[in-house]
Formats: sequence, structure tokens, C-alpha cells
Amino acid sequence: MLSKDINRRPIGVFDSGIGGLTVLRDIAATLPNEDTIYLGDTARVPYGSKSRETIIRYAREVAYFLVARQIKLLVVACNTASAFALDELRSTLDVPVIGVIEPGARAAVRATKTGRVGVIGTEGTIRSSAYCKAIKALNPAITTFTQACPLFVPLVEEGWAGDEVTAVIAARYLSGLKTHDIDTLVLGCTHYPLLKDTIASVMGPDVRLIDSAEATAEEVLRVLSANGLANPGGKSASHAFFVTDSPERFLTVGSRFFGPGLEKAALAAVGA
Ligand code: DGL
Repeated sequence: MLSKDINRRPIGVFDSGIGGLTVLRDIAATLPNEDTIYLGDTARVPYGSKSRETIIRYAREVAYFLVARQIKLLVVACNTASAFALDELRSTLDVPVIGVIEPGARAAVRATKTGRVGVIGTEGTIRSSAYCKAIKALNPAITTFTQACPLFVPLVEEGWAGDEVTAVIAARYLSGLKTHDIDTLVLGCTHYPLLKDTIASVMGPDVRLIDSAEATAEEVLRVLSANGLANPGGKSASHAFFVTDSPERFLTVGSRFFGPGLEKAALAAVGA
């Protein structure tokens, strides 16, 4: 492909599994001219409970798979992978790399009036303090409070986002944050946008929820435009899906995350 055609190349999006489809859905809605290639590392999910070293290794392997497919930009849709592997990917890849943490942190800093911000995510994301560091870097006067909510991921994948069991678990996880009088809460995990209603009813109307997926799609739009990489369009965008384990579950559960348009996924050979 000639270099003048770079803007017609696809955007690569990766996640530990299915959840990153929430980010892809927002990218597809915000950038309707852009082709995408999504890779869900379904054979090795979850990343949220794994060590930093393992996540960096996985992220590197998955990123190489996408870069070999001539992507023009890489989106790390997984919060845990963004928290641990973003610097490594940025320093080794020759395409722009966008994670979900910085856009989510920026949106939270813009939203808070009281300077008291909560962050929820996987154990790994919370342990990394990546959101807190990103928020503090933007505004050191903001105080952050965190809570890992590891059961949210399997509950969403089970299709229980609106179930009373999930409401009880959410009330338990979020009870500590409620005592801290936060006015903004970052949904720091790919699956949490599907729990917005449940989380909003626990936190109450005075707490603004920040969806990192939405904020990331806006950031992709900004970076493509700033670098002259936006696809001028002319044909309808295509979305290709790859997984590292058998596609059946990805297709069934994934349509809850992505909506219509997720019909087939191919097996990707990633890693050793
Ligand atoms: N995609 C992960 C994240 O956003 C959640 C699922 C996992 O633990 O792999 O952190």
C-alpha cells in the first residue's frame, strides 16, 4: 500500500476478550468511515487478575498480530492492559497507540466540581493506580478513591447486568465509595458501561458516571484528525473480528456488547 493510502488502513483494537467491544461500538459510532480489526484474547482472558509481566507479554503479542495487518493506529481497549502495557507498546510500535485510561481520566477531571473522584475497575487496574496517577497528573488537587469490583465482569458476561443479584453486589462494592462523598465515578473496565443503570441507582443522581469507552472514541477521532489519518470514506466501513479461542461464545455474548454486525470471527494465532 502506498504511504498516501495510510488513512485508508484499519484501526486495530484489542482487548482481553469480549468487553472491548464496548469501546469498538463507540469508535464505530463516532467514526463511521473507519475500518477496524478487533482482536479479543479470549484464550487468556481475564487479564484483570494477572501480573504486570504477564499482561505486558500478552499485550505485546496481540499488538504484533494487529500491526502485521497494516493498522494505522492501535487502541488498547482493555483497561488492565492500558494500565500496565501502554508505555511498552508506545515505545516499541511505530503506529500511534491510544489507551482507555488517559481519555477516561481527562473526562473525569473535566466533570468533577468537588474534586472528589472515584475509580472502579479490575483488581489489576486498581492495583496499578493508573487512573489515579493520570488524574493527579492533570490536576494534583483532585482526591481519588478506588474500589476493585472483580465480580462485575462475570456478571455482565452471564447476562445478569440488570439482575437483582448484581444490584446487591454493586451496593456492597460501592458502599465504601459512597461514604467518600464523590461527585464523579470512572467506570474503569470494559464491562462496566453495561452496568451503568445499576451503578447509577446505587450511587444516586449526584454522582456523574464517566464512560472511558466514550471518551476513548473521542480521543481516536482527535488523534486521527490531528495526524491526517482520518479515512475520507466513500464506502461503508468494515469490521473484522479475531479471537484466540473458539469464536462461538464470543459471537453469542459479544452481540450484547456490540449490537448487530458481529456475525463472524476468525481464530488468530497469537504468541508462542
Ligand atoms: N477487559 C478487562 C478490563 O477492561 C476486563 C476483563 C479482564 O479482566 O480481562 O480491564
